Amino acid sequence: MRLVLLGCPGVGKGTQATFLKEKYGIPQVSTGDMLRTAIKAGTPLGLAVKQIMDEGRLVSDDIMIALVKARVSEPDCVNGFLLDGFPRTIPQAEALHDNHVHLDFVVEIRVPDAELIKRLSGRRIHLASGRVYHLEHNPPKVDNKDDLTGEDLIQRQDDHEETIRKRLAVYHQQTEPLVNYYIQQAEDESDHLPRYIRIDGIGTVEEVKKRMLTALGF
Ligand code: AP5
Repeated sequence: MRLVLLGCPGVGKGTQATFLKEKYGIPQVSTGDMLRTAIKAGTPLGLAVKQIMDEGRLVSDDIMIALVKARVSEPDCVNGFLLDGFPRTIPQAEALHDNHVHLDFVVEIRVPDAELIKRLSGRRIHLASGRVYHLEHNPPKVDNKDDLTGEDLIQRQDDHEETIRKRLAVYHQQTEPLVNYYIQQAEDESDHLPRYIRIDGIGTVEEVKKRMLTALGF
């Protein structure tokens, strides 16, 4: 299973990816998590992208394509993978296609922008694992601690209202064109082109999960 999760910042891609990767036994390839790990480790990649991410802009296509190309060639991706946060531009999608990375499904999750600002302002994450919480909707068992490791949770640098608004604008301008790109591919009905599924992301995490699994045929 090779699957892409598409949608605005905060629609729940990371949250739903946790269920899907378990269901299919495939790794979650989250480009945001990969970049945040590089920043934390102080690698040249991390140093190059930190300011761009903090400002809510997109990292260059060249960097992202090289990163994902290398990641999906690793042995744990041989039976499939879930792409979370990639592709984010038409050139990134074309790079997958040109490198013969054939996808089975593109799943778009939709939530209105006003709700996304609330979700992202209340988000807390466990940096090492990428596990995601929300102060009200999905709180950790112990205040500000990761459920599995007990380590501290953090608020992402880009989860402040002004940057959230910038990220939403960037999504609508640079990533949303992928919706039509993939819808047109799905209409082609060729074997090696992905099917397109749109999910309503409003409702509880559990409700959205059920919708997604039903749409995927579980
Ligand atoms: P990335 O880390 O990919 O961030 P994003 O796309 O902005 O997505 P988020 O992680 O913010 O949201 P999500 O949809 O995963 O929502 P979540 O499940 O956490 O990218 C960050 C940056 O990296 C980019 O801005 C860019 O600079 C760079 N980058 C990454 N990939 C790139 C690429 N390909 N090209 C160029 N640059 C790239 O949920 C959000 C909150 O809502 C959580 O608190 C959660 O608990 C809560 N929640 C989830 N579901 C529900 C629900 N049903 N009801 C209520 N609350 C819910």
